[in-house]
Amino acid sequence: MNRFKHIFVVGVVSLITHSAIAQEGEDLFAVLETTTEAPELLSDQMLITQKLLWGERGLLRVAGIAKLNKDQREWELKLRRKLLVAHQVIGYVTLAGMIAQGIIGSQLYNGNYRLYETHENLGKAVTASYFTGAGLSLFSPPPLINKKVKGWSSMKAHKVLATVHLSAMIATNVLAEEDKKLHRAAAYTAFGSYAAAMIVLKF
Ligand code: HEM
Ligand code: HEM
Repeated sequence: MNRFKHIFVVGVVSLITHSAIAQEGEDLFAVLETTTEAPELLSDQMLITQKLLWGERGLLRVAGIAKLNKDQREWELKLRRKLLVAHQVIGYVTLAGMIAQGIIGSQLYNGNYRLYETHENLGKAVTASYFTGAGLSLFSPPPLINKKVKGWSSMKAHKVLATVHLSAMIATNVLAEEDKKLHRAAAYTAFGSYAAAMIVLKF
């Protein structure tokens, strides 16, 4: 698959990822957000991935699994808390895996092919924990209130960086069998933006 196709694939992936994660009216998908009839139970601001499941006409509502009422929302907010704690715990595990994968990867890159299988297997584990961590926040029940924040916030920076590392993680896996140089570049981009997405939360 030639280089331009690579760039095209990564470009499309980042666009989709950005629209899924970005929020607070900073992108063209803000027009999709509709005002809700039951404002006290659901904020009209939520991630598109959360709206898919938990929105007023989300899959879980339409399927009758999560009827929109006060008790249900209280249960969802408790679930959200647990999922976002797990999100962070798995986040740290993934970071440790990425560091190990980077150390092994650079040795493999310099010709130490005895590490090939270790790298490949650890790669699968890191990718699995990465997307599990992502899923825990992207599909968690939405908060009760989600105010529009003017200008930058650490959470906004966290989400924008998530757009970068999610695209880079997809590219790292797509390129692993294609081009080791691009694979390495994508992996370093994923690691750098991932670490930054954690550091920004400290401010
Ligand atoms: C797979 C990588 C990650 C992605 C895609 C991601 C994305 C997100 C998103 C979209 C939210 C907002 C969820 C919402 O408000 O409904 C969020 C919240 C958060 N994330 Fe991440 N994140 C990632 C990794 C991490 C890591 C590694 C940490 C730190 C250990 C972290 C810490 C947090 C915290 C503290 C929150 C706020 C939780 C709250 O509102 O209580 N995230 N993340
Ligand atoms: C999250 C990070 C990473 C993941 C998930 C990952 C995953 C993988 C996987 C699954 C393969 C095997 C592909 C196949 O089936 O042939 C692979 C190969 C490889 N990776 Fe990584 N990798 C990561 C980071 C890195 C880094 C940071 C480097 C270099 C510094 C690196 C260097 C290599 C090399 C040299 C190969 C062998 C390419 C070849 O000769 O075919 N990887 N990686």
